[in-house]
Amino acid sequence: MRGRDALYPRENMKILVTGGAGFIGSNFLQIMVPRHPEHSFVCLDRLTYAGNPLSLEEIRDARNFAFETGDVADPATVTSVFERHRPEAVVHFAAESHVDRSIHDPAEFVRTNVLGTLQLLSAARASWAPLGGEFRRFHHVSTDEVYGSLHDEGQPAFTEETRYDPSSPYAASKAGSDHLVRAFHRTYGLPVTITNCSNNYGPRQAPEKLIPLTMLRAVDGHELPVYGTGTNRRDWLFVDDHCEAVWMVLERGAVGRTYNVGGGDERANIDVVRSICVLVAEETGKAAADVLALIRFVEDRPGHDWRYAVESSSIRRELGWTPKSGMEGGLRRTLRWYLSHPKWVESMRSGEHRQWLEKNYDRRLRAAADKPTRTDP
Ligand code: NAD
Ligand code: TYD
Repeated sequence: MRGRDALYPRENMKILVTGGAGFIGSNFLQIMVPRHPEHSFVCLDRLTYAGNPLSLEEIRDARNFAFETGDVADPATVTSVFERHRPEAVVHFAAESHVDRSIHDPAEFVRTNVLGTLQLLSAARASWAPLGGEFRRFHHVSTDEVYGSLHDEGQPAFTEETRYDPSSPYAASKAGSDHLVRAFHRTYGLPVTITNCSNNYGPRQAPEKLIPLTMLRAVDGHELPVYGTGTNRRDWLFVDDHCEAVWMVLERGAVGRTYNVGGGDERANIDVVRSICVLVAEETGKAAADVLALIRFVEDRPGHDWRYAVESSSIRRELGWTPKSGMEGGLRRTLRWYLSHPKWVESMRSGEHRQWLEKNYDRRLRAAADKPTRTDP
């Protein structure tokens, strides 16, 4: 199906992918670069602690792939990338993405997520305006966290019409970036699309997020920090399913539209952590009871959203998207990837990562050690 607004019939497109050395961006490039030899891809990434060139190793030498190290919030860098590569489409993943880090350092989130998005929008506008924007597309990758928290299990999932109500500095900065993207469409006619996706998991995710943190610490026999009572709920989606959704929207999404993307697999954090413990035991030969005994309920995250759930009927109905991976299979695939990529894991657990663990967890884990151990919320 090719709607009036479809990006195609462009062949031989140059696609600028920002943040492509991060978790979702690298999975996106790993899928799309070999699948689409008719297009060429340029990755612009600042290589922060979350970006890793090893995540792009398999496609590094591909004929249709180029890499630029640079900051999306720096106007000179962004202008130069647009002038030299002349992209016809932008897929904008680059962001500071961790809620806990945004609680410690909100300014960096505003700089990259809000100002960085503004720089890219401005460069796209300047570069595409003389062409009227035909067959051009700016796709902005965003999060369901802009909608804030659901408060009980019966409350309906987020739709594209749900009011923005972000809780964390991360979510607020992503909300700000979404508003800028829409404003550039309404004000200047920039051909934009947005996806707001639920929590992703899969290979190449920095080990600060719940799933890889729990997997790697469980393998090493370290305590597993669970915030609060572990009853907070998230709607999980395997990363490849998100990448497919982004591609479908890029190709066939209607200009100016927002599509929510959700796995529809909602689980309490403690259930996810327990499933990972059992999986780690199965895959490494440890006793499940020993791994489960590593769970520690620690001081909660301030402003912790209780529940996310995403209604994705628009993208399912209009573009035929459907998630392919279930959580059990997806978690096992993810764990096996981490176990078989020790070089990647080592490179992500640099001094910076150790400092982060100290800053965010040491006090929490010490306080939990002073309380009687419990494995149930
Ligand atoms: P990530 O933190 O793993 O990767 C972010 C990438 O952006 C890294 O490679 C980093 O080096 C790069 N980057 C950071 N600041 C930059 C800057 N100033 N200039 C250039 N590059 C910079 O993030 P992720 O989990 O892959 O998320 C990608 C996008 O998807 C983000 O926009 C995020 O908001 C969104 N999203 C993530 C999830 C999730 O569960 N991870 C869910 C929904 C939406
Ligand atoms: P996270 O992976 O940071 O994603 P997000 O905050 O974007 O949802 O966290 C997922 C859930 O897991 C969230 O409810 C917070 C919780 N969590 C813990 O309980 N312990 C941890 O150490 C981390 C990082 C997260």
